[in-house]
Amino acid sequence: MVQFSGYHKMYVFLFIFFLVFLPATRCIATNDHKFHATTHYAFYENMRRWNRTSPIKLNYTFLPEHMIQNLSLADIRLSFQRAFGRWAAVILMTFVETNDANHADIKIGFYFGDHGDGVPFDGPLGQAAHSSPPESGILHLDGSELWAVDENTLKLEGAVDLESVAVHEIGHVLGLRHSTVKNAVMFPYTPIQKRKVNLSKDDVDGIQQLYGVNPNFKPGPNWESSSCSMFMETRTCLGWSMLLAIMMVLPF
Ligand SMILES: *[C@@H]1O[C@H](CO)[C@@H](O)[C@H](O)[C@H]1NC(C)=O
Ligand SMILES: *[C@@H]1O[C@H](CO)[C@@H](O)[C@H](O)[C@H]1NC(C)=O
Ligand SMILES: *[C@@H]1O[C@H](CO)[C@@H](O)[C@H](O)[C@H]1NC(C)=O
Ligand SMILES: *[C@@H]1O[C@H](CO)[C@@H](O)[C@H](O)[C@H]1NC(C)=O
Ligand SMILES: [Zn+2]
Ligand SMILES: [Zn+2]
Repeated sequence: MVQFSGYHKMYVFLFIFFLVFLPATRCIATNDHKFHATTHYAFYENMRRWNRTSPIKLNYTFLPEHMIQNLSLADIRLSFQRAFGRWAAVILMTFVETNDANHADIKIGFYFGDHGDGVPFDGPLGQAAHSSPPESGILHLDGSELWAVDENTLKLEGAVDLESVAVHEIGHVLGLRHSTVKNAVMFPYTPIQKRKVNLSKDDVDGIQQLYGVNPNFKPGPNWESSSCSMFMETRTCLGWSMLLAIMMVLPF
């Protein structure tokens, strides 16, 4: 056994305290956005939103000259229908597709490299899409990605799930910036070869703050258990720091 003098014990205690307790306080902060304004969903300046009378009805279009060979319009349409549906389920907003590209609120297209808006795409992987905040409705997808609309394509190296990216980009189009919550759809990084399509509680809290609550929205059973496990995580985290703190002050 190593013998610690009183001073050594003090140093070790402080070391462990900073090592364990400080991360612990951070993990509390991410779970309760009352503590830190930055650790959750975020809005654009002045809470930019689609300023229409509720219930808001937005129309979207797939720009015909900006579709890609590798995906059928039917597949693209289905992915976006689902993606829009996920947001429409939680706020009072509906989305309808239109063929009238000149008068659509939201314009969706695939673009390659430098496409004239000052934000060139970077080829496969890296940036897969970008969009503009309300009320411009610009939604650009990188035409060079290996877009997946089914499980088999998603297994290919470097494949990116179209619906996952669509859900994220629609979040921007509606007024959400990136969130710091890892399981949020609005977290800046969408995983490669994986689907991330379910809105997290953080996404829902954010979008409902902008547009209000859809009275038909009922959180599923998964919802409850995931917020519960987040709570458990905080408790466990705190528990460990307390235990270590107590161990260090006890005489060896
Ligand atoms: C929203 O629209 C209304 C009516 O069109 C207008 O009076 C108001 O200034 C707008 N609000 C913002 C924040 O643009
Ligand atoms: C889409 O919605 C906007 C705003 O409500 C409207 O002005 C426009 O005519 C609509 N476009 C089509 C093609 O329905
Ligand atoms: C698109 O399809 C062509 C031919 O099927 C293939 O060679 C090419 O790699 C594909 N590109 C992407 C980005 O998926
Ligand atoms: C999304 O949620 C559904 C049911 O709520 C669940 O079955 C599915 O596994 C979830 N998908 C992902 C990718 O987490
Ligand atoms: Zn662009
Ligand atoms: Zn983003």
